[in-house]
Amino acid sequence: MNNQIKIRNIIKKYEKNKTIKVLNDISFNFESGKIYSIVGPSGSGKSTLLNLLSLIDTPSSGTIEINNSRINFENKIINDNIRAKKIGIIHQDKNLLSDFSAVENVYLPNLLLSNDHFSSMNLAKKIIKNIGLASRLNHFPSELSGGENQRIAIARALINNPEIILADEPTGSLDFDNAKQIFKILLNLKNKNRIVIFATHNRYFANMADCKIKMISGKMKITNERIN
Ligand SMILES: Nc1ncnc2c1ncn2[C@@H]1O[C@H](COP(=O)(O)OP(=O)(O)O)[C@@H](O)[C@H]1O
Ligand SMILES: [Mg+2]
Repeated sequence: MNNQIKIRNIIKKYEKNKTIKVLNDISFNFESGKIYSIVGPSGSGKSTLLNLLSLIDTPSSGTIEINNSRINFENKIINDNIRAKKIGIIHQDKNLLSDFSAVENVYLPNLLLSNDHFSSMNLAKKIIKNIGLASRLNHFPSELSGGENQRIAIARALINNPEIILADEPTGSLDFDNAKQIFKILLNLKNKNRIVIFATHNRYFANMADCKIKMISGKMKITNERIN
């Protein structure tokens, strides 16, 4: 059976002086084996959507199901556990803990699940080698370039072999050549049991996804056309 994220009638609103519906009644199925890109102007709700899918934020109304199991947003401990096991998250920057080395940053999420220092450490080293940064294991984030930081962040997001990978403008702080390296890794993460969703301002990378989503006026617009 394919894994899936089903969102139904999701509304996310903020009440300030007036009510803003950032997400206005969105329903969609994200299917495993596919890569999704999300584009849209600043403030269009890309991060809001990704934060809901990360189970970090709570919708004002509507439901999210992961693999046919409905998320109870009241149950923070269970949701933290789902996130730790199933979801890898990469932000634009500041993904890493500054007081820990690259390999420690990568191994920590696995240590929390395995409780086995040596196996987690070995796994972290292997993943970092796979992304070509074996020579940076003991560097601290401040001793890594922006692109290297993001590659380590991907390794960290991957260590628990997540079914869902969410990246919120992962190359927003990088130049084009470094961004290309990051997207090469991200696009290679596609496999039949996994859903990869990334938000980006870069149309070149957005067009590489299997399914392109534009956020417009609180709605998701699915497009098969090239994004120009
Ligand atoms: N905590 C909050 N309180 C009020 N408004 C918010 C809050 N968080 C986000 N918003 C608003 O939600 C909208 C969408 O933000 P966001 O999802 O970050 O957009 P994007 O990632 O597409 O730039 C913005 O207009 C923003 O001002
Ligand atoms: Mg954002």
